[in-house]
Amino acid sequence: MIKQGLDISHIRNQFPFLKPHSDTKPLIYFDNGATTQKPLRVIQGIVDYYTHNNANIHRGVHTLSQKATTLYDNARKYVSTYLNAKHPHEIVFTKGTTDSINFLASCFAQYISQGDEIIISEMEHHSNILPWQILCKKKNAILKIAPINLQGDLLLDELNKLISPQTKLISITHVSNTLGTVNPVKDIVALAHQHNIPVMIDGAQAAPHLKIDLQDLNADFYCFSGHKMYASTGIGVLYAKEKYWNSFEPYQTGGGTIKSVTFNETLFADLPHKFEAGTPHIEGAISLANALKFITDTGIDNITRHEHELIEYATEKLSEIDTLTIIGRAKNKAGVISFVIPNTHPFDIGTLLDKQGIAVRTGHHCTQPLMQKYNLPGTVRISFAVYNTLEEIDYFISALKKTIKMLQ
Ligand code: ALA
Repeated sequence: MIKQGLDISHIRNQFPFLKPHSDTKPLIYFDNGATTQKPLRVIQGIVDYYTHNNANIHRGVHTLSQKATTLYDNARKYVSTYLNAKHPHEIVFTKGTTDSINFLASCFAQYISQGDEIIISEMEHHSNILPWQILCKKKNAILKIAPINLQGDLLLDELNKLISPQTKLISITHVSNTLGTVNPVKDIVALAHQHNIPVMIDGAQAAPHLKIDLQDLNADFYCFSGHKMYASTGIGVLYAKEKYWNSFEPYQTGGGTIKSVTFNETLFADLPHKFEAGTPHIEGAISLANALKFITDTGIDNITRHEHELIEYATEKLSEIDTLTIIGRAKNKAGVISFVIPNTHPFDIGTLLDKQGIAVRTGHHCTQPLMQKYNLPGTVRISFAVYNTLEEIDYFISALKKTIKMLQ
């Protein structure tokens, strides 16, 4: 047994999905950047909610509605405390990161006029490109792209040079979903704030792996998806500082967002309800709180340390395969490793690994501009969660070597 800091069997035992699926085939799940498996407490929380507490929230005087409302409100409080937000009402539940960024781009449009500039980076996921690209096109504003080097590190000096009096927002990923680069987001926020520019951080690939302290980070906006950090799909967070929420018009309107309505006018509800139109994803919010409780009990620092060990070990083993090139050699990485092998298509590698019981992601990873920079059609990506082990990496490396032999 290879020595590891965490009690991995205890962790794995909490994930029903990781129990052996058949007698013959192993299951090695290395596609956690796409979505993680769920611990029993998250699954059980959803079952309990529908078995004992299901009702609509903020609407009924009946006991069940009040119970469901308390569960939902407590979930927000837990998420807020976990993230060290200043107020729970700065946390708005969304469908996930993509929804959060579209939401923010819609609300932030009021701050953008012709000739204004928004800065993103070369390593962004499409979800942190398209909403800003479309907003810039609508407003005749300019989308500026901060470059990275071939190692995959963001060039902070170049980002600094892009800042001008017209810059209205910087929107940057915390961790690259393709390269694994951990960006120096605290430095970026400090730099932007020297120019009074707000910063939005896409935390989809960071929140599962790193401690997030919103007040310490001081970003104006932060978002992530629950399903990439052990919660159910369809739930995510858009955090904004209270002053921004107070300045925004509702993204969507309707039930749940109002204090009073006449045919002539509407008085909107207080934060955060003004921004959560319709019946929300109640059990999703509960599942997110339960997922964060799982992370808290495991210890986010333990998770970071363990996953770092996995990244280091896998990088070392992959580097021993001489035909293989790792894409993304940033100094500080989390979560994922991408690689390519000359004259083999990532899709074929992924398919043959799947036959050996290993789930990886292949393709452009929703980062086509990044693929264009590296002149690649795609990569093979392995991405880790806390339940992955060094033994799984050993098995994967030997399966990969077999795969390469077959394909060459
Ligand atoms: N955005 C997710 C990923 O990178 C789906 O895999």
